[in-house]
Amino acid sequence: MVKVAIAGVGNCASSLVQGIEYYKNAREDQFVPGLMHVNFGGYHIRDIRFVAAFDVDANKVGKDLSEAIFVPPNCTAKFSDVPELGVEVMKGPVLDGLGKYLKPVISTDPTQKPVEISEVLEETGADVLLNYLPVGSYEATRYYAQEAIKAGVGFINNIPEFIVSDRKWAKKFEDANLPCAGDDIKSQVGATILHRTLTKLLIDRGVKLEESYQLNVGGNCDFLNMLEEERLSSKRVSKTDAVSSQIPYEVPLRIGPSDYVPFLKDTKVCYIHMLGKKFGDIPLTIDLKLSVEDSPNSAGVVIDAIRAVKLALDRDIGGPLIGVSAYFFKHPPIQMPDAEAKQAVEEFIVGRRER
Ligand SMILES: NC(=O)c1ccc[n+]([C@@H]2O[C@H](COP(=O)([O-])OP(=O)(O)OC[C@H]3O[C@@H](n4cnc5c(N)ncnc54)[C@H](O)[C@@H]3O)[C@@H](O)[C@H]2O)c1
Repeated sequence: MVKVAIAGVGNCASSLVQGIEYYKNAREDQFVPGLMHVNFGGYHIRDIRFVAAFDVDANKVGKDLSEAIFVPPNCTAKFSDVPELGVEVMKGPVLDGLGKYLKPVISTDPTQKPVEISEVLEETGADVLLNYLPVGSYEATRYYAQEAIKAGVGFINNIPEFIVSDRKWAKKFEDANLPCAGDDIKSQVGATILHRTLTKLLIDRGVKLEESYQLNVGGNCDFLNMLEEERLSSKRVSKTDAVSSQIPYEVPLRIGPSDYVPFLKDTKVCYIHMLGKKFGDIPLTIDLKLSVEDSPNSAGVVIDAIRAVKLALDRDIGGPLIGVSAYFFKHPPIQMPDAEAKQAVEEFIVGRRER
C-alpha cells in the first residue's frame, strides 16, 4: 500500500482521486491511457490510499476528501463517483498560497486553526506528500517540503517552485534520506510535451528555428491565479526551459499562461507558433491549436510518480529521483530527451537504475 497525503485539494487533486477509483479494478494486462503500467514495480493503482489532505478553503476544510474534490471553485470533469474515503480535509497554513485573484473566490475561516502538518503526516503514516498548491506559493511550498522532511515522508512537487531541481533543497532530502520527485508535473499530452517534441523534430531534421511562442488560456482557478504575473516567474522559466533545453542555440521564445477565459472552465486551449528556415533559407511555419481538459491530463502521470517514490522508499533511496523527474516533470534536476527519460524510468522500476 502507498499512503498519500495531499496539499491543495483543487482540480488536479480531484482528477487524481477520481482516477484511482475509476481504475481500481484495472486488469494488469489492460491498457490504461496515461499510465506507464497498471502494475508499476509491484504496486497496482488501487494500492494508492489517501490518508490526509490539507487545504485552506473554508468550504473544503472539514469535508471528506471524496466530497471536497467536487466543491466549487473546482470545476474539472467528473468521470467517477468516489465513495466516502474517511479522510477529512484539514486546514493548512495559508502563508502565500492565495494570490490577489484567488482571495476573492476562496474564502478562509480565521476561526479554523491550521493543524501541525508534520504531526498529521506522522500520525497517518503517510509515505508521500503531494504538493498541489497554486502557482506562486513560494513560502507555502517550502513549508510543506520542510514538514515532509520533519515527518520522514517522500515529496512530490507538482508545481513550478524549484525544490527538487534546487541544489540546497535536494541536499536536504538527501541528508534526510528521503526521495523526492519534481518540479512541475508534465501532462500526458499537453502544451509542453507537444512543443518540446515539435522542437526536437525540427532540430533533428536540420531546420533552423528562428522564433516560437506558446500561448495558453483556460478558465479554471489555476488560470485565474496566473493572471498575477508576479506569481509566474518560475512557471515561465519551467515551461521555457522544457523547450529551450531541446535547442542547441538561442532562439526568441515566449511561453506561458496568457489569459483567463472563465467560460472555458477546466478546458485549456494552447496555441503554438514556430517559424524556421529549411534548405535554401526557405521559411517553414507551424501554427497549431491543442484543446484539453486540463486536470485529468496530469493525474495518470502523478499516479506513476507516486509509485516511483514509494519504490525509492522501499529501496532506502533518498534525494532527487533523476530519471523519474526528467520523464514526469517539466523542470527536473537534469533534463533528458523524453525517450531516454522513459527508458531511465523503466530501468528504475526493475531496479537496474538506482534513481
Ligand atoms: N493541470 C495540470 O496538468 C498541471 C500541470 C502542471 C502543474 N500544475 C500545477 O498544479 C497546481 C494545482 O493545480 P490545480 O488546477 O489543482 O489548482 P487549484 O487552484 O484548483 O487548486 C489549488 C488548491 O490549493 C488550495 N490552497 C491554497 N493555499 C493553500 C495552502 N497554503 N495550503 C493548502 N492548500 C492551499 C486552494 O484552496 C485550492 O483548493 C497548480 O500550481 C498548477 O499550476 C497543474
